[in-house]
Amino acid sequence: MSYYNDINMGEWKKSEIWTDSLWLISERDNTGKHDGYYHGNFVPQVPRQLILRYSKQDDIVFDPFLGSGTSAYEAENLKRNFIGVDIQKELVDEVRKKVEPHNNFVEVIAGDSVQSSTYSIVKKILRRHNKQYIQLAILHPPYTDIIRFSKLAGDLSNAPTLHEFIEKFSTILKNTIDILEEKRYLAIVIGDKYTNGEWIPLGFYCMNAAQKLGLTLKSVIVKNMAGNRAKQNKEGIWRYRALLGDYYIFKHEYILIFKKN
Ligand SMILES: C[S@@+](CC[C@H](N)C(=O)[O-])C[C@H]1O[C@@H](n2cnc3c(N)ncnc32)[C@H](O)[C@@H]1O
Repeated sequence: MSYYNDINMGEWKKSEIWTDSLWLISERDNTGKHDGYYHGNFVPQVPRQLILRYSKQDDIVFDPFLGSGTSAYEAENLKRNFIGVDIQKELVDEVRKKVEPHNNFVEVIAGDSVQSSTYSIVKKILRRHNKQYIQLAILHPPYTDIIRFSKLAGDLSNAPTLHEFIEKFSTILKNTIDILEEKRYLAIVIGDKYTNGEWIPLGFYCMNAAQKLGLTLKSVIVKNMAGNRAKQNKEGIWRYRALLGDYYIFKHEYILIFKKN
């Protein structure tokens, strides 16, 4: 068994863990607490795969863009401890009501992940549990302004420019790396965007930001975007526009896997 997961290599052929860099997910897992109501959430299979591959039971999973709590519920199911942050208090309150930790803790905080004061609270929580570090970070930021999550000024989906978005995202990365245990993993889930006739490779910018902070890139996973609510029932219109224009329709996003040295 490795130091960073509980995969039983004696039974590796039966493992449910995906090892290909192309993830074609045909259906969202809507079982348990996952109801998919939150526009902009990720499918539960994403945090599930990441948690199983990059953490052990009782490790601490951290998510600074908690949203509707998909990663919290997966961490809870898989007997990991969890700390999550979201800038929208109402969302955090909802997640807090839904989690039912047994032998593990699930702590959710309303706050701006750009602010060091938010990370002071995270560190206080760690200390309260006699811990210093988290073992896995999962970051699913807004894809700039594709979905405006709130009207809050600190919300990354309201960053006025791409430059400011990347700067704020880099600060969150840096804050997260500070509390990540050495030799452990950080995953970014991000898609690109198209604006004013130009493909904006947000995924590559975010990848670059993480590399600049010294993380080692371990994998670039491409995942399909089947079931994307914004595009549902509009396939024909999108295809017509694409044929008329000179671009391809978004069908993928990225899961970028990094390791702290
Ligand atoms: C793409 S969603 C995450 C969805 C989540 N993975 C889920 O499955 O529900 C991004 C989230 O980041 C939050 N957010 C944006 N800026 C933030 C900030 N500065 N600090 C903390 N959360 C922020 C938004 O409120 C939104 O819920």
